[in-house]
Amino acid sequence: MNPQEISIYRNPAKGSCKSGLSYHCCVRTSLPHQPQRSQLSQSQLNPNDPQYRSLSPFRYPGGKAFLSAFLADKIPEAAGDRHYAEPFCGGAGAALVLLKAGYVQHLHLNDADLRIYSAWRAMLTETARFVDRILSAPVSVETWHWASDLIRGASKGTYDFDLGFATFFLNRTSRSGIVVGAGPIGGYNQTGRWKIDARYNGAGLAERIKWLGSVSGHISLTNEDGLTFLHNSLTRTPVDHTLFFVDPPYVHAGGRLYLNAMNEAKHIALSDILQDSKLKHWILTYDDHPLIRSIYSRQDIASLDVTYSLQNKRKEKEVLIQPTDLG
Ligand SMILES: C[S@@+](CC[C@H](N)C(=O)[O-])C[C@H]1O[C@@H](n2cnc3c(N)ncnc32)[C@H](O)[C@@H]1O
Repeated sequence: MNPQEISIYRNPAKGSCKSGLSYHCCVRTSLPHQPQRSQLSQSQLNPNDPQYRSLSPFRYPGGKAFLSAFLADKIPEAAGDRHYAEPFCGGAGAALVLLKAGYVQHLHLNDADLRIYSAWRAMLTETARFVDRILSAPVSVETWHWASDLIRGASKGTYDFDLGFATFFLNRTSRSGIVVGAGPIGGYNQTGRWKIDARYNGAGLAERIKWLGSVSGHISLTNEDGLTFLHNSLTRTPVDHTLFFVDPPYVHAGGRLYLNAMNEAKHIALSDILQDSKLKHWILTYDDHPLIRSIYSRQDIASLDVTYSLQNKRKEKEVLIQPTDLG
């Protein structure tokens, strides 16, 4: 995603400008590049820099890697390790940039979708096997059908390596990175201009996965509902040293881009947790919906244009919300 296409601007309408499965990686390795935060400033972090551009193994519609410089500036100061958490992590693009650039030393990634969780867990804990599979699996419509059959209906259950690889494969080879409900790039007969391997550079993807494996000791991974994750974070995460970046599914979901395990009651419950609990350092992005403007009316709301499709440059109006005392 190109950050030049994004604008963050203040909302003139506002007066003030403003499941239960859990897995934690336990091997702790050194980050290859870990500058002190004092050596860095927001302007030095350019998510479009080639070293940060392609960290996430996923293509995610509306992915938020482009916000990483903004988020870097919001990370709370800490004498020791700085932590960063995403309760709805998806492709976790911003999280990986912040880890690689040394702004944070520990990531807490969570996604309720077993398929996404399995892909992350397979990459982080069975790295060599995952890399072998990337390099050996034929990038073909046959493999696409195998993956599609495997993931159908598999949003709940337990971790499975093949489920994780199938999810990754579909994300890389389906139109717009949509895992369920989109056909292969180039069509079933491969008559389109782009072919199924257009977004599947095996060697490059293998390098991304190897890097993930090398920093897996700095990443905790869970497969919980986002609200449960936030509740649990109050006791298992050093919340005073943790920035929570919350990017839930839209209130008004236009299409089935990814799992949406939220309803209106849950959107309201999420706002209660964020606004009334001990979580002080949070940033939230949402679709620009009246419900959201209403339940977060006490907070600082800015507008955000987010590119959703790289092909037709489709943009969505989102809002970026932060506690009034964080801005
Ligand atoms: C908007 S996407 C996050 C995109 C991410 N910020 C990125 O940059 O790639 C929302 C994610 O939330 C997950 N999800 C949906 N409902 C959830 C829930 N109730 N709890 C936790 N995760 C959920 C989906 O599987 C999806 O990956």
